[in-house]
Amino acid sequence: MKAPSTYTKLERGDFPSKSRPPRHPLPLPYILAVCISVLCISTYVRRGQPLPQAYALCSRSGAAIYTVDPERPRAQCMVVNGTLIQDVGSLEDVHRRWDTAVAQRQAAQKRALPRPRLETRFIKSGSIVVPGMSDSHAHCLEYGASRLIPLESARRPVDAVAAVRNYILNDEDIQADPEKYVQGWGWDHTRWPDHNFPTAADLDSDPVVRSHRVALEAKDGHAIWVNSKVLEEISPLPDEVEGGLIALRFWRSQLILLLGVLLDNAQYLVPIPPPTQKDLEKQFSLVVDDALSHGLTSIHDAGFDPKSLEFYKRLADENKLPIRIYGMTYFDENAEYWGDKVKPIIGAANGRFTARSVKFFGDGALRTGGAALFEPYADNPDSRGFMRIDADVLTSNITRFLRDGWQTNIHAIGDRANSLVLDAFESALDGINVTSLRPRLEHAQIIRHEDMDRLAKLGVIASVQPTHAIDDMYYGEARLGPERVKLLYAFRDIIDHGARITLGSDAPVETVDPILSFFAAIGRVAPDGTSPHGPNGWFPEQRLSREEALKGVAAGMTLAPAYASFTDDVLGSIVPGKIADYTILSQDIMTVPLMEVLETEVYVTAMDGRPVYGSI
Ligand SMILES: *[C@@H]1O[C@H](CO)[C@@H](O)[C@H](O)[C@H]1NC(C)=O
Ligand SMILES: *[C@@H]1O[C@H](CO)[C@@H](O)[C@H](O)[C@H]1NC(C)=O
Ligand SMILES: *[C@@H]1O[C@H](CO)[C@@H](O)[C@H](O)[C@H]1NC(C)=O
Ligand SMILES: [Zn+2]
Repeated sequence: MKAPSTYTKLERGDFPSKSRPPRHPLPLPYILAVCISVLCISTYVRRGQPLPQAYALCSRSGAAIYTVDPERPRAQCMVVNGTLIQDVGSLEDVHRRWDTAVAQRQAAQKRALPRPRLETRFIKSGSIVVPGMSDSHAHCLEYGASRLIPLESARRPVDAVAAVRNYILNDEDIQADPEKYVQGWGWDHTRWPDHNFPTAADLDSDPVVRSHRVALEAKDGHAIWVNSKVLEEISPLPDEVEGGLIALRFWRSQLILLLGVLLDNAQYLVPIPPPTQKDLEKQFSLVVDDALSHGLTSIHDAGFDPKSLEFYKRLADENKLPIRIYGMTYFDENAEYWGDKVKPIIGAANGRFTARSVKFFGDGALRTGGAALFEPYADNPDSRGFMRIDADVLTSNITRFLRDGWQTNIHAIGDRANSLVLDAFESALDGINVTSLRPRLEHAQIIRHEDMDRLAKLGVIASVQPTHAIDDMYYGEARLGPERVKLLYAFRDIIDHGARITLGSDAPVETVDPILSFFAAIGRVAPDGTSPHGPNGWFPEQRLSREEALKGVAAGMTLAPAYASFTDDVLGSIVPGKIADYTILSQDIMTVPLMEVLETEVYVTAMDGRPVYGSI
């Protein structure tokens, strides 16, 4: 999560779109049959009317439901009853089966005249249905915090200050308690005109902002920008702060006071109080709004601390989770071992809340030079990066947690980190049923081919973030050199070695937009269509196919995340008997030209059979 980002969304209008091929060429008799059945049941279409407990969701224009079921990859209709998918098939089949079955039962019970009973809703022409989408790696509450004040869109410090002012004036909690810290997340000085850090003076220039305690986290999480009110409160400042050369440099030259920006470990000098329940609720509601509007029905939260775990447990107890949360609890080296005392939470709140995995940190991030490599960095021959955890502690604790029934998910970025973690898995998994524990490598950015073999052999899941690839492609080679860079985000190689991939965003480093992950995975180009290797993508041989990116026999945004969260028996594909989580997209992402994929809108996100965003 600490990897900074320079990716900028470019104007999509810059790229002339090619004319689209006709989408579903269909034989005439088929079209006629469909039209006739559409006529027959069109009286039952009542858009905007309350949705009955059982309904059919169909397309007028062919098999627009991508089921991700290898037996029947595409269908025209699905029948939902309550929370479950009850049937999948063509419009005709589904209606014949359903009307007949229902009618017969009814006739037997009430001697009523048989007539069609199943209300049918049609998706808009051109749109498609996919299984509810998942984000396999995001930091929910941090993302919510990043959405409180729109700092990311600031083009200059003064824009950010104006956003802070606006927030202060409109936030009830701050109005009620003027001493409360004003916290934001997401500024990025590398996008500002002179690339300089902002200053306390910038914040002090506004009388409203000046009078509050203001602490704004940078987008990459490595710096915090405060105003003079905060600086005065934490003075006198120590001469040195351990943990980060940059921080030290600024401290020694006393620039810090001038700047008002505290870097790396110096950030901890700002005594920001822990968030209140109300703060967390506010952050969470922003996450939920964004996630549902992007078509997500489930998020794997890549790091619960005790506070956020308690928060989610409470929401789950009160049955107030509007989205599925699959949580990984941070391993804390300084805490006592808890794997045998705490019971994993599985499928609480009607299947919406699970906390059965433990997240360890293997190494640091590539951009900051913290990723642990076998050979030194190409642009810094003195460093091979570093492991953040002792190999013994890692192995013994992974073993222990696995034996106590916990999934173990380890942040590993560099090739050395990935290899060391695989060593740990290899010894920990000896005699353990991997399928029942599904260990994961989070990020899995640089992996040697021999370790990809081990990944497959051990059954360890690579939880990757394609949007990082289209971000890091600009500096990856400088950092790793021309050979080693070929192993960076080598998604195709990972799959070809027989290993599993699941896709995520790592929000708030990136946005919670699965369509952007999909685009990055299949195109390996920036949103403007360019890459260091041209418009066919950065190392185009590593692109995933659209089917792989969507479905996940090996890869994916639907079935693979379900597997990685032990829910593939009930979620991740549109199959009778599974839970009716689905997403309706405005256009066919499986066929539109690559550069049009990003124009896809989410029309509807449905969970447990009911729309939670949009309507049908
Ligand atoms: C929907 O499911 C319920 C409970 O399983 C069942 O009683 C009902 O008949 C089903 N509805 C239809 C239309 O089949
Ligand atoms: C687990 O990690 C702790 C440090 O947090 C360490 O003291 C301990 O030896 C490790 N191994 C086991 C089996 O607990
Ligand atoms: C391993 O666990 C899976 C899932 O729990 C189970 O289906 C499978 O039968 C187990 N395999 C063995 C060899 O015990
Ligand atoms: Zn992360």
